[in-house]
Amino acid sequence: MIKIIGLFICAYLLGAIPSGVWIGKLFFKTDIRKAGSGNIGTTNTFRVLGPVAGSIVMIMDIAKGTVATLLPTFFHVQGINPLLFGIFAILGHTFSIFDRFKGGKAVATSAGMLLAYNPWFFVFAAGLWVILIYLTSMVSLASMVAFSIVTVASLWLHDPYLTVLALVLTIFIYYRHTPNIKRIKNGTENMVHFGLGYKR
Ligand code: G3P
Repeated sequence: MIKIIGLFICAYLLGAIPSGVWIGKLFFKTDIRKAGSGNIGTTNTFRVLGPVAGSIVMIMDIAKGTVATLLPTFFHVQGINPLLFGIFAILGHTFSIFDRFKGGKAVATSAGMLLAYNPWFFVFAAGLWVILIYLTSMVSLASMVAFSIVTVASLWLHDPYLTVLALVLTIFIYYRHTPNIKRIKNGTENMVHFGLGYKR
């Protein structure tokens, strides 16, 4: 039992690493919380600091969810759904102890959890997300719609744990995107400008 609690704490602390904040401060002397959308995730890092920093943050944020979900495998813990460890990483990412219990919008870390749990479903979700970004030119809208579709699509896998979690995560992700939803309604959401980065 102590081992499981210890691993939950590890999963939370792993998820709590504010990759965007640390990469921005360490290598670019920039606080991304004070630039662009103010979010600490991949999209805003890409927007503010460029593709190299954005890619590094995306890999780190996905890896947090993946490694946390694999913790029970690494430490030979059985009888407990690995998705629970992914949830702790997502909670760490969104309510980080290293960032005054603030954090990101849960997209990349949730994707990382999916990568560890079902790699082919991750490929489907990631492909869908990319297509939706292309169609909408808005990462926020693409993220919300992709998670909604993933929730419905998960029914085909006959895995009730995954479907219930996907549903809860989708609602949570909509909630975390409240400022984006307001901007989308106002017509002021940040747009991806293919080839030239971002525009407003
Ligand atoms: O993953 C977050 C993304 O969906 C939106 O990010 O910076 O445009 O609010 P941002």
